[in-house]
Amino acid sequence: MKVVIVYESTHHGNTKILVDAIAKKNEVDLVDATKTNSIPYERYDMIGFASGAAFGKFYKKITSLARSVPSGKKVFFLYSCGKNSKDYSKNICGILEANGCISLGSYGCCGYDTYGPLKLMGGINKGHPDENEIRGAVDFYTSLV
Ligand SMILES: Cc1cc2nc3c(=O)[nH]c(=O)nc-3n(C[C@H](O)[C@H](O)[C@H](O)COP(=O)(O)O)c2cc1C
Repeated sequence: MKVVIVYESTHHGNTKILVDAIAKKNEVDLVDATKTNSIPYERYDMIGFASGAAFGKFYKKITSLARSVPSGKKVFFLYSCGKNSKDYSKNICGILEANGCISLGSYGCCGYDTYGPLKLMGGINKGHPDENEIRGAVDFYTSLV
């Protein structure tokens, strides 16, 4: 099974920590969403999207890249966020499902966050994703394959 994980992790590289841990133990291609405008999705059986959360959603570039996934593909989601109180993949998942993709689920955890006024107090979630959260992401991926 060929798998690609498209990621956008521009705030502190928090989400990239999860993606790298998965790629260390599994055969997956990684694509940095900020460095491409097209992805050969047809080559893959399963496609992951991994992003920090911004304003309740995945980042803009990765959301835009998700719009061209062919119908019928299996997709999954990983994210890190400042406040882990809801599923931040809902929006991107809705776009993919509306295009006929099959969602296998999502995994989210906290990530170091210094956005806006948080910077003045040194940020929140320092040290996150931590060991347990990283293991959670790897276990989530393992449960899919
Ligand atoms: C512009 C911006 C908006 C954000 N909005 C949210 C948000 O709506 N909810 C949340 O929980 N975290 C929010 N965050 C915090 C990030 O999602 C969090 O720090 C995440 O771990 C960053 O991931 P990254 O380092 O992989 O980019 C925001 C951060 C930035 C920079």
